[in-house]
Amino acid sequence: MAGYSADQAPSPRDKGFDSGLDKIHQAVVSIDKAINKVIPEEFNPFYYLGGITNVLWVLLVPSGIFLWFYYKPTTAEAFSSVDYLTVQVFFGGVIRGIHRYAGNGMILLAILHMLRNFFTDRYRGFRDIPWVSGVILLFLTGFIGLTGYLLVWDQRALVITEALVQILKSFDLVIAGFGTWMARGLLGGDEPNNLTLARMLFLHVGPAVMVFFFLWVHYLRLHRPKIWPPAFVTLLTIGVVLLAAGLLPLEKTLPATTPIVAGQPDIVYDIFYLLPVLALSSISAPWILALLLLMFAGLMILPWLPAKKHRYVNVATVTPENCTGCQLCAIDCPFDAIVMVPGANPNPRYTELAVVNDDKCAECGICVGACPFHAINLPLMDEYAIRDKVVALLK
Ligand code: HEM
Ligand code: SF4
Ligand code: SF4
Repeated sequence: MAGYSADQAPSPRDKGFDSGLDKIHQAVVSIDKAINKVIPEEFNPFYYLGGITNVLWVLLVPSGIFLWFYYKPTTAEAFSSVDYLTVQVFFGGVIRGIHRYAGNGMILLAILHMLRNFFTDRYRGFRDIPWVSGVILLFLTGFIGLTGYLLVWDQRALVITEALVQILKSFDLVIAGFGTWMARGLLGGDEPNNLTLARMLFLHVGPAVMVFFFLWVHYLRLHRPKIWPPAFVTLLTIGVVLLAAGLLPLEKTLPATTPIVAGQPDIVYDIFYLLPVLALSSISAPWILALLLLMFAGLMILPWLPAKKHRYVNVATVTPENCTGCQLCAIDCPFDAIVMVPGANPNPRYTELAVVNDDKCAECGICVGACPFHAINLPLMDEYAIRDKVVALLK
């Protein structure tokens, strides 16, 4: 994570803190502070939203593999294999619950994590790759959940299949025949059949493998990311999922072969994954497709949209009088945030001056260690002040 913690007040370098977004940023910091008064700061779950999402992912993978052992991807056997697993297999229903609730939790936490990063202005500059890979992760997770619900091959799965076909067919409005071709490809024919479930299983497991790749990309450019929350928060997360799986058995559904008639128990739609399916009752399929594409594109380009202002908190700052233009900091900076500007050094003996690009600086402090002349510093973590503190502590 970058060098400042979310509960730190903005530095004097912040250029105003008055827009609506800034107010939300302040509100996030205030909520953090309020929680920190009740529980020790290091256990504040809001500092680990990404990490908790990771824990949930870790719960999803083995529970999914367990379900896979029993799953039969044919229209005749899918429902009964899931039913057998839930009712007959020792702890089968609980493991299905873990898979379901960890999945719900993952999408909820990923959304909270995204909102927090957005409102605390942590999505631009060197965070563009974490942001973009995060958007891909969010949509991948949503798609994995959707295909997961379809695998059960109950009445709900049939409605989801119909919704998917309608949404995909909307592509016909852009390129004639393309949507129908995709829908046929998804179903493996004109109507749902055994190929449909084989393909859905692939579309459930394949993107899950891709999640690992995008998680790796997600952390690639982050400086010391907090990938896992502290043990207490991890155990709490696991405990909540286990408790939910134990106490809240999954709803009973009817097989896809049972016609849907009025008066029977309502089909339960999970808003975490099935919002687009639910929305089909009030919005037409092409609009849902357009909204999804717009949402994806809008989120993807967000880091490059012009910002009114930035809230620079603790980016490296050069003291020009001390800088000899030796370039050591520019060579060591892993984020290419330092440029050597010829003719800018106030001392005529030196040809260049180190200048920090605020947008690119990750506040990692590597340049501070690289500079032999105390010419570059992080304002909130002054090198000498930290050294004096350590010396005082050792006395
Ligand atoms: C879906 C699963 C996701 C997982 C498991 C995940 C996990 C993480 C973790 C563990 C970190 C490091 C946290 C830290 O050091 O403070 C992180 C950082 C980050 N994530 Fe995610 N994330 C996910 C989705 C997203 C989404 C949907 C977005 C936004 C669209 C996003 C944007 C970011 C950004 C911008 C950072 C950098 C934050 C910083 O430097 O403080 N992530 N993520
Ligand atoms: S300028 Fe310094 S603090 Fe900023 S990213 Fe580069 S090395 Fe890290
Ligand atoms: S390492 Fe220090 S002296 Fe050398 S260019 Fe960078 S800031 Fe200037």
